[in-house]
Amino acid sequence: MRITLLPGDGIGPEVCREAVRIFHALNSFYNCKFEIIEKPVGGAAIRVAGSPLPENTLEACLQSEAVFLGAVGAPEFDHLDRGQKPEAGLLRLRAELRGFANLRPAACFPALADCSPLRRSRAEGADVLILRELLGGLYFSEPRGFGENQEYACNTMRYSVEEIERIAHVGFQQARMRRKKVTSVDKANVLETSQLWRRVVTSVSRFYPDVKLEHMYVDACAMHLVTNPSRFDVILTENLFGDILSDEAAAITGSLGMLGSATIGGGINLYEPVHGSAPDIAGKGIANPLGAIASVAMLLRHSAQMPHEANDLEDAIENVLDAGHRTADIAGEHPQHVTSTREMGELVECAFVDRLDRRFAYHAV
Ligand code: IPM
Ligand code: MN
Repeated sequence: MRITLLPGDGIGPEVCREAVRIFHALNSFYNCKFEIIEKPVGGAAIRVAGSPLPENTLEACLQSEAVFLGAVGAPEFDHLDRGQKPEAGLLRLRAELRGFANLRPAACFPALADCSPLRRSRAEGADVLILRELLGGLYFSEPRGFGENQEYACNTMRYSVEEIERIAHVGFQQARMRRKKVTSVDKANVLETSQLWRRVVTSVSRFYPDVKLEHMYVDACAMHLVTNPSRFDVILTENLFGDILSDEAAAITGSLGMLGSATIGGGINLYEPVHGSAPDIAGKGIANPLGAIASVAMLLRHSAQMPHEANDLEDAIENVLDAGHRTADIAGEHPQHVTSTREMGELVECAFVDRLDRRFAYHAV
């Protein structure tokens, strides 16, 4: 399986190094071969090729089975126009890969409940899947841009019935594999796109009578996420709402550094941690690689058809946390054993290989 690796900017390369460990461990353990081809994206690509998504990088992505990205964004490019910024590379890549369904699972590990800004009893039960529509809405709709002399600017939120239908199907299907509840989040008291969203999601729900559907306004959802996160199972929402709510949900689980994501639906899936490039801590070896490693687990599940190994990897992450190992962001007030980015990667790899060993021994008998 060929994977294009796009480390990108800031802490992207550091966390990717720890993610790649897992592929190497699988390569040496099984007769499988994950072939990793590294290319520049974002600010790193602007520096070497003058574009945030060079043709050569895009070509490599389109010729692989999956794409794995670290993070993009660097303050030195803040002054550039929208189309030239590092972020433009990621948005173009998402559009080219055509994955419209962005899965952002946010669950609070019991070992980390004290790192949550919420009290333990509230944080503990949090286990939500934010399903974010990734190719429409304000991020991509036309018209957009600045008016004459930059006296005004405009963006457009547009959704077609078809775009809503396809993401809604993914939402109900995901809910079927979880606790069978979809909360569709919109702003239907103000926006026409949301009124259409509500209508279409309701009509798609008829194909899934076993799944409970509720509708909620986005402002209320932001509130319920901090007052009672365990009431949510799947949150199905449009692009910008999903961007905002997924950072909120991530913080509730203890740290934004913990979350992985998968973007599916376009043929070539894209995997990336939910966190950004965090330029303030880049290069210090203190970033949390668990979001990147959780994204590897999602790749094993959604692209490599290795569901058992995906579970093993997620269990390995939990084992390491249960044993008290913490990167700085999840060290809490009474740090136990604070690890570097690399130590954390090594610990998870070790725990993972241990599980593979046991699986192998079992099958050998
Ligand atoms: C995310 C990020 C991106 C987004 C940025 C870097 C363009 O915030 O993946 O959540 O807004 O989608
Ligand atoms: Mn975001």
